[in-house]
Amino acid sequence: MKYESVPMEKLEAFHTDYLFYQTRRKLPFIDRAEGIYIWDHTGKKYLDGSSGAVNCNIGHGNFRVANRLADQARRAVFAYRTQFENEPAHRYAASLAEHLPPHLQRIFFVSSGSEAVESAMKLCRQYFFNRGEKSRHQFISRTPSYHGSTLGALSLTSYSPLEIPFRPMIHSRPKIPSPYCYRCPYHHRSTCNLECAWALEKTIQEEGPDSIAGFVVEPIGGASTGALVPPKDYFSIIQHICRKYGVFLILDEVMTGFGRTGSLFACEHWNVEADIVVMSKGMTSGYYPLGGIAARTEYVEEMLENGGFSHGHTLAGNPMGCAVGLEVLDVIVENRLPENAAIMGQTLKNGLERLKKKYEIIGQVRGKGLLQAIELVSDRKTREPFPPAWNAHFILTDEAYDEGLIVYPRRPIKGLRGDHIMVAPPLIVTRKEIKELLELLDRALARTEARLKKMENTVL
Ligand SMILES: Cc1ncc(COP(=O)(O)O)c(C=O)c1O
Repeated sequence: MKYESVPMEKLEAFHTDYLFYQTRRKLPFIDRAEGIYIWDHTGKKYLDGSSGAVNCNIGHGNFRVANRLADQARRAVFAYRTQFENEPAHRYAASLAEHLPPHLQRIFFVSSGSEAVESAMKLCRQYFFNRGEKSRHQFISRTPSYHGSTLGALSLTSYSPLEIPFRPMIHSRPKIPSPYCYRCPYHHRSTCNLECAWALEKTIQEEGPDSIAGFVVEPIGGASTGALVPPKDYFSIIQHICRKYGVFLILDEVMTGFGRTGSLFACEHWNVEADIVVMSKGMTSGYYPLGGIAARTEYVEEMLENGGFSHGHTLAGNPMGCAVGLEVLDVIVENRLPENAAIMGQTLKNGLERLKKKYEIIGQVRGKGLLQAIELVSDRKTREPFPPAWNAHFILTDEAYDEGLIVYPRRPIKGLRGDHIMVAPPLIVTRKEIKELLELLDRALARTEARLKKMENTVL
């Protein structure tokens, strides 16, 4: 299909002050997108090296999904769940259940990752409330972490710039250190007894086991830590502790789910049995807003038996989102995208390791499947980060953007210090496209290194 680009002058006129997000920064308009590429209104082409916000797993411009969306829109755009059942929601829930571990066979739909995290917290609390364990209300999570921007999800998140203004409004919750081995929170370099995992037991005991409802954790760290893969035995310890104290293990697979890390869900890498899996992003790959939770069957059945679940959103389980989710899941499974993510992820990782050999500013390459990250350092030996005011992660991101490559920047030390970028292209990426991505990143790194050296010389 051919697209006519709107003339640039006309589009610029749409740059109004009416619409705002975080800052006043003006960006190019998107014109069209196909596969792993995006074109802006000037005709410039970008390689989407971050799948948007690490969500566009099946790639852009998938007409099979677009057609399914249009078909459903013509049939019924909305059905309120207290008035009608809808076929796409039931078919999608059944299809998801088929691909989830056999103990997670109850699905609840919402419209975003943050809503899904909040729903997991509320389901967990409601379960304990309905069975008379009313003291269990507290949740433990990790630092750093990201679980969403709404106030409940933000209370689990640990990424200072996003929390500081809202702290008086956020429920204070205990946090344990993330397994950030490159900068071990316990300062171990060669020995490791997984103190960061055992910290969960210590915290449960300190808080009082009867008060703890759940532990919420990203199986592989996302934006806040930069594709942090836990050590091999991490999740068996976490699983053991959660079982010992009757605490829900809630895996936030919003970023890792739907093939991203080389298996449909990241929990499959460690055989960990979650009580709730939280989903969004890749679920519809950006073709429609959708999120959801999959919960342990017997817990949901008991909760429904004992008074039900006092929770819901207007658009929960709407037919549009579910029709898209169903089609996207079929695309992921039929095209074996998790397998492709595992293979291409290794190719990407090897390439990033080669770039590490070339550029001293790369301290570590980490990740799994097509969720990869590089952390930048000013001194590789001491692992000293660049001065925070230099914003090295933004410099690299801007240089990459100039080259026509999109990457995802964040800070790994509580969001305050350190610099990393995530490299996470759509799961349809080919070997040739990975090569192109690495060439663009190579050029961006060369320019970034030169700029950072210049800044260093100015300071000295
Ligand atoms: C692990 C994780 N949980 C939750 C969320 C929140 O999702 P949303 O932005 O759709 O609200 C995100 C978003 O990046 C995420 O990465």
